Amino acid sequence: MPVLEIQTDDAPVLRQRAAPVQEINADLHPFIKNMFETMYAAEGIGLAAPQVGVSKRIIVIDIEKHLPEYPRIALINPVITMTVGEELAEEGCLSLPGVRGIVRRAAIVKVEGLLPNGDKIEFDASNLMARVLQHEIDHLNGILFTDLLRPEDQELLESEPESSGNTVTENEDSLHGNE
Ligand code: NI
Repeated sequence: MPVLEIQTDDAPVLRQRAAPVQEINADLHPFIKNMFETMYAAEGIGLAAPQVGVSKRIIVIDIEKHLPEYPRIALINPVITMTVGEELAEEGCLSLPGVRGIVRRAAIVKVEGLLPNGDKIEFDASNLMARVLQHEIDHLNGILFTDLLRPEDQELLESEPESSGNTVTENEDSLHGNE
């Protein structure tokens, strides 16, 4: 299974708004498999298609090691339809090696999208799953987590280490990994 090249830093594809997938068929399946393989090879927990140079609205997430209640998933044309609350946690990104920061995100999200077999799915996610979904869907809109960093959030968590909650990144070098 080929591992794809992860686009990093100033790669233009990371800043484009990815196109919706128009037709869902078996042709997509090898690409989605390769996305999972690429994510695992990089020890990530989430990956968006633009991160491997494909400007399409596809994401893969596997946080089963952290939260087994969320099985691994590939989502096509995912949309966040509702958010609740706010939470701070540290994130990293496979496309921004070595960069970490505290990101304020919704605590709970409702997401809808399509599975690789074409079925529609809608579900609520909290905790790490909510965060990874927001991080990956941001990638589809050309947004990187570093766009969301606010000095007051960095200070808040530093001053209240007990309240820091989980660490979230696409890699596994912290508690939860990176998207
Ligand atoms: Ni990322």
